[in-house]
Amino acid sequence: MFYVFPTDGDIARFVSAQIIQLISSHERLVLGLATGSTMKPVYGQLIKDFERERPSLQHVHCFNLDEYIGLPAEHPQTYAAYMQQYLYSHMPFVPEQLHLPCGKDWPDEQQCLDFSRQIQKLGGIDLQLLGIGTNGHIGFNEPGTSFEQRTHVVALSEQTRRDNSRFFTNKDEMPTHAVTLGLKDIIESRQIFLLATGEQKAQIMGELQRSVITEDLPASILKKHPHTAILVDEAAAQELDPAQCKDASVLLEKIEVS
Ligand code: GLP
Repeated sequence: MFYVFPTDGDIARFVSAQIIQLISSHERLVLGLATGSTMKPVYGQLIKDFERERPSLQHVHCFNLDEYIGLPAEHPQTYAAYMQQYLYSHMPFVPEQLHLPCGKDWPDEQQCLDFSRQIQKLGGIDLQLLGIGTNGHIGFNEPGTSFEQRTHVVALSEQTRRDNSRFFTNKDEMPTHAVTLGLKDIIESRQIFLLATGEQKAQIMGELQRSVITEDLPASILKKHPHTAILVDEAAAQELDPAQCKDASVLLEKIEVS
């Protein structure tokens, strides 16, 4: 179901409140986390809410969706660096709680599958956060990826390389490959929030709403999942059919009173 929020800040407040609530109510919690500009307001809000509520984090594990292959470990555009900058350095996690697919050396099939297995060993992902690429990718599962794939290495599409090169001062550094959690791993999560904000996501959100479930549009797999909420701001909702969307004020009211 699509929920339309007034702004990306409202989405951030809602998602952060849900995460704090899960941390406080679960004895063991596995979070699936994403990167990208969409997630920055969410993590900013989560840091603030955490400071206020101070729930224990000892029982929490975080798994990241994806990582570029081939960037030097100290490169500021690795997703490991992103997570440190926008979330992990602001929260009292110990390294054993934080799991990122390793893209420093080209991971072999076994190393990839071990990442999926680690998630299963810890009981599976309770809440998976996802952004979306303008071509409908989730994680780095590009159009055409099998729904049956677990963690694997991908060749990035031209469109993704063009979109993401905006983060690189030297465009030639934009990687050609990445490692990503597979669609099979993602769909096994107990609950999923897909977030899309800004007018540059309006077209793909319209396509996603109209689409059948197809490997040509990876995010369409979420239509199979009974506990997925697609959270969009008004800018990203411009091409959605309002009759098939819910106003998010009901969700926001819930966090106002709690
Ligand atoms: C990147 C990441 C995705 C992310 C998407 C959207 O390629 N691999 O996990 O969701 O693109 O990014 P942004 O939020 O910057 O638009």
